[in-house]
Amino acid sequence: TWTMLNIVDDAITAVREQVGDGRAICALSGGVDSAVAAAIVQRAIGDRLTCVFVDHGLLRKGEAEQVERDFVEATGVKLRVVDAEERFLKALSGVVDPEEKRKIIGREFIRVFEDEQRAILADGPVDFLVQGTLYPDVVESGGGTGTANIKSHHNVGGLPDDLRFALVEPLRTLFKDEVRRAGEELGLPAAMVWRQPFPGPGLGIRIIGEVTRERLDILREADAIAREELSRAGLDREIWQCPVVLLADVRSVGVQGDGRTYGHPVVLRPVTSEDAMTADWSRVPYDVLARISTRITNEVREVNRVVVDVTSKPPGTIEWE
Ligand code: XMP
Repeated sequence: TWTMLNIVDDAITAVREQVGDGRAICALSGGVDSAVAAAIVQRAIGDRLTCVFVDHGLLRKGEAEQVERDFVEATGVKLRVVDAEERFLKALSGVVDPEEKRKIIGREFIRVFEDEQRAILADGPVDFLVQGTLYPDVVESGGGTGTANIKSHHNVGGLPDDLRFALVEPLRTLFKDEVRRAGEELGLPAAMVWRQPFPGPGLGIRIIGEVTRERLDILREADAIAREELSRAGLDREIWQCPVVLLADVRSVGVQGDGRTYGHPVVLRPVTSEDAMTADWSRVPYDVLARISTRITNEVREVNRVVVDVTSKPPGTIEWE
């Protein structure tokens, strides 16, 4: 629309004025906010922006490719990809406590990002850090710019204070729906523009128990099926998000194919919400649940039970960890 075009153009002009001849860096998470912020800055200063994507191995099926291939194709962003799966898995090895997992993932993220930053600084000074801060984040944090913080709410993946970059926050006056429209205007991949909320620590906090590559692969398959069927049923806009959780330390007896199995349950956690502060469990039609359940137990060998979480928030949180 005309107004959205204006908003995007104004944002591009403002970034151009702020950054001048300088260089900027931006960490991409796979989410819509950092993607739209980066796309705007790219339009403003071209390849004086360097984006960094830390692939921690905890994303869902297809999401790393969305950033590395589709987003780059759509925007022409200069991108450095770090395949850090091994490093994250090693750091998470043996860890079951949710907050411990969050701390480790946040810490490793900072370390990897700092390494990248050093490499980028070798080509010359960088004065600006791009962040996808939205208007509600600004209000929530009292309006100050403060130090760099990638995700203030849960404090995951925050950047250390000593970086002292000036922040470039092109989405600071926008609400989420405006960011999505801006993303469409900028030609970003639809899957990114319309991605539902997804936590920074990713699937790491959706495996109850230790995080291993094998468990991640199981969860990724189950999650992909649930997302596909919910989309196909046209429920994407109605459902706020639907975590799929692997109860990795629980086994139950089942019968699949010709024999008895002793597999894992997955939990579907579809919720409706306005802002994630409170939520209600979604009344997903039984036939959609049935398709998800049948497909997961047929296609993911290690899973022999699919259960639905019917708890509101409060008392339950949206995520299980
Ligand atoms: P809870 O589980 O607290 O989740 O009801 C509320 C919203 O926050 C997301 N969430 C996170 N986001 N890092 C994030 O960036 C996290 O550690 C984290 N934990 C929960 C959750 O997906 C939901 O949208």
